[in-house]
Amino acid sequence: MGEGLRRTKTALSHFTPFLRPRKRGLFLALVLLLLETGTSLAQPWPLALILDYVLGTETIPLPVSGQVLLVGIVVLLVTISTASRAVTAFRRYLLSKLGQETVFDMRDALYRKVHDLGLDYHGARRTGDTITRVTSDVKEVRSLLVDSVVEVGSSFLILIGMLAVMLWMSPSLTALALVTVPFLFLAVRRYRLALIERMRVVRAKEGAIASVIQEAVTGIRAVKIFARENDEIDRFRKESRDSLSASVDSSLIEAKFSVLLGIVGGVGTALVVYFAALQVLAGTISVGELTVFVAYLGLFLSPLWTLSRQVNQIGKSLVSGERIIDLLAAEPTVKDSPDARPAPALEGRVAFEDVHFSYDDEAAPEVLRGMDFEVEAGSRVALVGVSGAGKTTVTSLLARLYDPQGGRVLVDGEDVKRYTVKSLRDAITFVPQEPMLFRATVAENIAYGKPGASMEEIEEAARLAGADDFIREMPEGYETLLSERGESLSGGQRQRVSIARAMLRDTPILILDEPQAGLDAEAAEAVETHWRTLTAGRTTFVIAHELRLVKDVDKILVLEDGRVAEEGTHDELVSSGGLYARLYALQEQGRDPVL
Ligand SMILES: Nc1ncnc2c1ncn2[C@@H]1O[C@H](COP(=O)(O)OP(=O)(O)OP(=O)(O)O)[C@@H](O)[C@H]1O
Ligand SMILES: [Mg+2]
Repeated sequence: MGEGLRRTKTALSHFTPFLRPRKRGLFLALVLLLLETGTSLAQPWPLALILDYVLGTETIPLPVSGQVLLVGIVVLLVTISTASRAVTAFRRYLLSKLGQETVFDMRDALYRKVHDLGLDYHGARRTGDTITRVTSDVKEVRSLLVDSVVEVGSSFLILIGMLAVMLWMSPSLTALALVTVPFLFLAVRRYRLALIERMRVVRAKEGAIASVIQEAVTGIRAVKIFARENDEIDRFRKESRDSLSASVDSSLIEAKFSVLLGIVGGVGTALVVYFAALQVLAGTISVGELTVFVAYLGLFLSPLWTLSRQVNQIGKSLVSGERIIDLLAAEPTVKDSPDARPAPALEGRVAFEDVHFSYDDEAAPEVLRGMDFEVEAGSRVALVGVSGAGKTTVTSLLARLYDPQGGRVLVDGEDVKRYTVKSLRDAITFVPQEPMLFRATVAENIAYGKPGASMEEIEEAARLAGADDFIREMPEGYETLLSERGESLSGGQRQRVSIARAMLRDTPILILDEPQAGLDAEAAEAVETHWRTLTAGRTTFVIAHELRLVKDVDKILVLEDGRVAEEGTHDELVSSGGLYARLYALQEQGRDPVL
C-alpha cells in the first residue's frame, strides 16, 4: 500500500490547485456527510425504543402512556428519515456541482497547456490521445478528487465515531466485529493492483480509439480513394475490443471484490449477532440494545466498505490522473526565457550561426548541420534545394516553431530566444507550404493573422492575393462558411486565401513557402506582381521549386546536406557552375530535377 499511497499523494499534490478554490464547498460536503451519519445513527433508536418500552417490559421514564409514546416515536421516525433524505440530496447536489466545476477548471488548464506545448510535443503524440486526456480522463479523476476526498475523510471520522460508540455499548461485541477488518485489508490488496492494470489498458485504448477515429476522419479522402474502409473499421475494432475486454475484466474483478466484501461482512455480522443473542438470553443486554448494536455494526461496516471501495476507485482514477499530470507537467521546449523581452520594432536582419538541428533529439539524423548565413534587412532571399533539404525547417527555426540544438538564430543581431515568442511571431508572416484554413467564414479566415481587421482591409488583401473574384462568386461571398480545413475550396483557392491572410499583416519578415504551388499560370503571375508590393521593404524568404521565379531575388541560398552549399545572385551562381547552375540548366531544358 506504500507505493499506492505515494502515488495518491503526488497525484493529489498536482490536483490541489483545482481543489483549493472549492475548499469551503468540500468542507460543507464533509459536514453534510457527517450529518447524514448522525441521522443514520438516530435511525435504529425509534425501533429500539418501541421494542423495549412499548412492546417490551421496561418502564417508560416519562409521564406518558405507551400509546402516546408510540405516536411520538413514529413522528420522530418520519422526521429522522425526511431529514436524512434531505441532507443526502443536498450533499449529492453539492458534490456533483463541485465535481463539474473542477472538471471545468481542469479542462481549461489542460487546453491551455495543449497550446503552450510546441510542435515537437504534438508531433510525437497522437492527436486522439491528447483529446481524450482533455475530455474523458478529466471526468475519471473528478470522482477521485471530489467524491473520494470527501468520502474518505468522512468514512474515517465515522469509523472512529462508530468505534467509540460501539466500544461504549459493548467492548466484547466490538472486538468481535473487528475480527473481520484484517480480511478486508487483504481483499483490497489483492484486487487493487489487478484493477489498476486493467484501467491502464482501458485508458490507453480509449486514447487509441480516439486517434484511430480522428486519423480516419481527417484522412477520409485517402480512405475512400484507396477503398480502405474495412481496414479502418478493423483497426478501430481491434483497439475497441482490447478496451472492452479490459473493461469487462475490471468489472469482473470489482464484482468478485464485492462478493468477498459481502462474505467478510456477513460473517462478521453473524458472529456479532450470535454472541449478542447469547448475551440477550443471559440478560446482559436488552433486545433494543441488540437491534441498535447490529444496526451500528452495519453503519460501522459501511464506511469500512466505502474506504476499501475507494482504495480501488482511487487506484483506477489515478490511471487517468497520471495521464492528466503527464500532460500538465509537460514542459514546452520553446518558451520565453526568463530574460526574454518583447521584440522592439525589428528591421529584419536575419542570421543563422552554425545552427544544428534535428527533429528528434536522439534517433533522427541532423537536418541542419552547421547552417550559416546572413541576410540584410529588407532583402529578398530565395531558399533553394532538393526536396527534404531543410528549406521549410530553416523558416520554422526562424519563427521559433522549434529551437536548434546547437548554434544561434539571430534577428537584428539578437538571439531569437531573447525575444518573447509572441512578439517574435508577431514580427513574422508565414505563408506555409500547406495552407491551414479553419471552419469559419472566408473573411474570418483571412483575418486570422490580424484579428479585428476591417472588411475593407480584408477585401483589399483578397484582391492582392487574386482571391477576390472567386470569393465574390461564392454563395455568401466573404461570409461563406468554409468546411473544416477549408476543404470546400480548391487547392489553388485555399492557397490564395492563405496568401490574402499574409497580405493583411504588416511585418518586417515574410516567409513564403512555395506560395505558387497549386496556382495556375495566370494566378501565379498575378500573385507575383502583387507580392512585389507585399515584399517591398521586408526581409522576405521565398521557397520555390521553379527557379525562374527566384531569378531576381537579392540572394539565393542553396541548401545541401544541412548547410548552405552556395550563395549569391542568380547570375553569380549560374556562372560559378555549381549545384544551382546544374539545377537551373535542367529546368531550362524542361527536365524537372524534382526539386
Ligand atoms: N515534423 C518533422 N518531424 C520529423 N522530421 C521532419 C519533420 N519535418 C521535416 N522533417 C525532415 O526534415 C528534413 C527536411 O524537411 P523540410 O520540410 O525542411 O524539407 P524541405 O526542404 O522544405 O522539402 P520540400 O521542398 O519537399 O518542402 C526531411 O528529411 C524531413 O523528413
Ligand atoms: Mg518544404
